[in-house]
Amino acid sequence: MTLLQWNHASSVGVQILDQQHGVLIDTLNALSVGVAGGLPANEVRELIARLLEYTKRHFQTENFLMEKYEYPGCAEHKLEHERLVVQIADAARAMQMGEPVHLRTMTGYIRQWFSTHMEGVDHELGSWLNTQGVE
Ligand SMILES: [Fe+2]
Ligand SMILES: [Fe+2]
Repeated sequence: MTLLQWNHASSVGVQILDQQHGVLIDTLNALSVGVAGGLPANEVRELIARLLEYTKRHFQTENFLMEKYEYPGCAEHKLEHERLVVQIADAARAMQMGEPVHLRTMTGYIRQWFSTHMEGVDHELGSWLNTQGVE
């Protein structure tokens, strides 16, 4: 099982975003560990709900900063956020309805999504925010 790790190279240069990314990584790792360890469905459901809530909260923060500082890449970045929220919400809904969910595939996808997103567009956003005096 692969876990995500936060280190200083992961920093996007904006404190609040780094702190939230750390919590997201912890939450996602807890879910991966739970799924690999065969946690009961109700506990997995709870972890997915927590991940969904925190992901939304984090995206709200980034979306707010992008709007406030009129970030040029705002629209595309927001769209990426929306797509992931839909994916997690869909998994949460399916779990709630008792539909079969391939949990390892799902957690693997989210993990990959976060690492690509954080290393890519979040880094670009962070650098741009730095030029606006946000650290
Ligand atoms: Fe982002
Ligand atoms: Fe982010």
